[in-house]
Amino acid sequence: MSIATIGYLRIASTDIPAWMSFGTDILGLMDAKREDSLGARFLRMDDHPFRFMLEPGAEDGLLACGLECRSKTDWLALCERLREAGYTLEEGDSDAAARRCVTGFVSLQDPCGNNLELFYGRRLDYTPLISPAGVRRFITGDEYGGDLGFGHAVLPAPDSDAAAAFYIDLLGMGVSDLLYPPMPEGAPETSILFLHADNPRQHSLALYNHPYPGGVVHVMVEVETLDEVGRALDRARAAGHTILASMGRHVNDNMCSFYVLAPGGIAIEYGYDGLLVDWSTYTPTVSTVGDLWGHEYQFPGS
Ligand SMILES: [Fe+2]
Repeated sequence: MSIATIGYLRIASTDIPAWMSFGTDILGLMDAKREDSLGARFLRMDDHPFRFMLEPGAEDGLLACGLECRSKTDWLALCERLREAGYTLEEGDSDAAARRCVTGFVSLQDPCGNNLELFYGRRLDYTPLISPAGVRRFITGDEYGGDLGFGHAVLPAPDSDAAAAFYIDLLGMGVSDLLYPPMPEGAPETSILFLHADNPRQHSLALYNHPYPGGVVHVMVEVETLDEVGRALDRARAAGHTILASMGRHVNDNMCSFYVLAPGGIAIEYGYDGLLVDWSTYTPTVSTVGDLWGHEYQFPGS
């Protein structure tokens, strides 16, 4: 039993209108056209009621990752396993669950202080995606109708051993790849552990072995074609957004993508052609380069 998907992100924003226009006009996400009683706005990618919840905040950054369980039975068993391992779970009340359009959820922190919400019973409303930027479809499901989640997120995990044990042994995720990217002479050793959930997407979460401002290293969304990636790059450049990495292709998930800075500082990877894997015959890899080509990184501090 494992986490099924990474279902949604909650993001704190000091300028929600700026994030909404970036999300819709640049990324091509759909404004769900609702605002809840706490001032949150919602961005859609598919028939889920939202994939990104933007909440007013005094600071910008990731508030929580929503991780989906396939059933209430799975969810209860996972909660029990976490409690037995000494984790404190805070059960969401009905109002909080309704806000997330889920049947039930608990909040907890991973060993590095990343906020997680484990949920089950997402309530879909099947409103068709109408992308304001003309994106035909975001890749959130496979050809058999299975849910791949919204994409992936890379979380800071300075205590990498404790984090790996938590996600693998307790949440049941599997290792896809362990990357040791080439670093400048004298730089501290850097590793990124890529983890898959119980769906074919090559990774749904990854753990970066250093702290990172804003609580997330990057967030990835995927579209269907190279042309759609290129058009998004054109839109981002035309609007003056900071490009954090040129076009390139990653070695492990084959994602062909670029990176752009969202308002408030979260890096968004926008890609296509991500690898889908049959985990029954997969052997985890160890990589020493991150990219087959391209991806000239200009992240702050890099
Ligand atoms: Fe990525």
